[in-house]
Amino acid sequence: MNPTEPVVDLRSDTVTRPTPEMRRAIAEAVVGDDVYGDDPTVKELERRVAALAGKEAALFVPSGTMGNQIAVKCLTTPGDEVLLETHSHINFFEQGGIAANSGCLSHPVETERGMLAPEDLAAALRADDDHVARITLACVENTHNWHGGTVAPLDRVRELSAAARARGVRVHLDGARLWNASVATGVPIRDWAATADTVMMCFSKGLGAPIGSILVGEGATIGAARRVRKRWGGGMRQVGILAAACLHALDHHFERLADDHRRARALAAGIGRIPGLRVVEPETNIVMIDLEHPALDRVAALRGLKARGVLVSPYGSRRLRAVTHLDVDDAGIGRVVEALEAVAGELTAVPAR
Ligand SMILES: Cc1ncc(COP(=O)(O)O)c(C=O)c1O
Repeated sequence: MNPTEPVVDLRSDTVTRPTPEMRRAIAEAVVGDDVYGDDPTVKELERRVAALAGKEAALFVPSGTMGNQIAVKCLTTPGDEVLLETHSHINFFEQGGIAANSGCLSHPVETERGMLAPEDLAAALRADDDHVARITLACVENTHNWHGGTVAPLDRVRELSAAARARGVRVHLDGARLWNASVATGVPIRDWAATADTVMMCFSKGLGAPIGSILVGEGATIGAARRVRKRWGGGMRQVGILAAACLHALDHHFERLADDHRRARALAAGIGRIPGLRVVEPETNIVMIDLEHPALDRVAALRGLKARGVLVSPYGSRRLRAVTHLDVDDAGIGRVVEALEAVAGELTAVPAR
């Protein structure tokens, strides 16, 4: 690695650092005690995002995980079953939280691209009988992280949502990267949000804020969510300093997600020319790279990349994930392609055993 070149960190879009302008917004934030409802900057953020999503109310929360977990808590009762995609964040990456926090069973459904279909719901529902748990909630993830930042098509989400509502099943949308779905398709946030009872969105991913997510929904649901957040220790005091960063991110880093998507496509195009690797064409900012050649060992590949100043995440035994974001430019993408080419060349030069 050339020590004068900075590391290109594509492990996640959560690794960004606040820009000087964002730090200024943080420094200048007008704050108050938000547990008393006194922080004007938090109120402004909640009002703006509720309006953007076409919902009555919003609640600022410390993390996407807490937002998802509070939503499940507010939309279910203990003993209920929750329909979700097997590799959704709520099912796969939240430590069994829906069981631990809400007393719910998960009903996972494997899909090819991350989106549940109305038929999945129909197949999962059982006759209303005293022996069985009731499915009262379906969760959608958009964009879908595990499946490579795939966008759930709006008409498919609408079909699922209509089928759920017809059966009295509520819908939560994990929209940690809904911003990316919106920029990639031109579909406004409020159109996606209309398909769900609650929507969680993160500021700490592509939008580049250091901390913060938000849950939107009906006033009564968000009122209940506020109580759960407090019980779980998520009531925050002069948190306008974070809300200011999120407002700055909304104003300055939303439209530019198109740059991340363009760079993800450029990265994929570069990787597509490297023998031994297979790349999944990205829809947004997540690029999945399959180690096709048998000599491409995941650990060795990660080590080789790190030695060249490039960081990506392991995703499954023969897959790597690279996520573009605010802190990576075109030159960085070029360096990642070069590093992958060098590592693939080096490892595949050794005859496979
Ligand atoms: C789809 C999705 N949902 C929820 C989360 C949780 O967000 P947080 O890390 O803020 O808890 C993540 C985090 O990566 C995510 O990718």
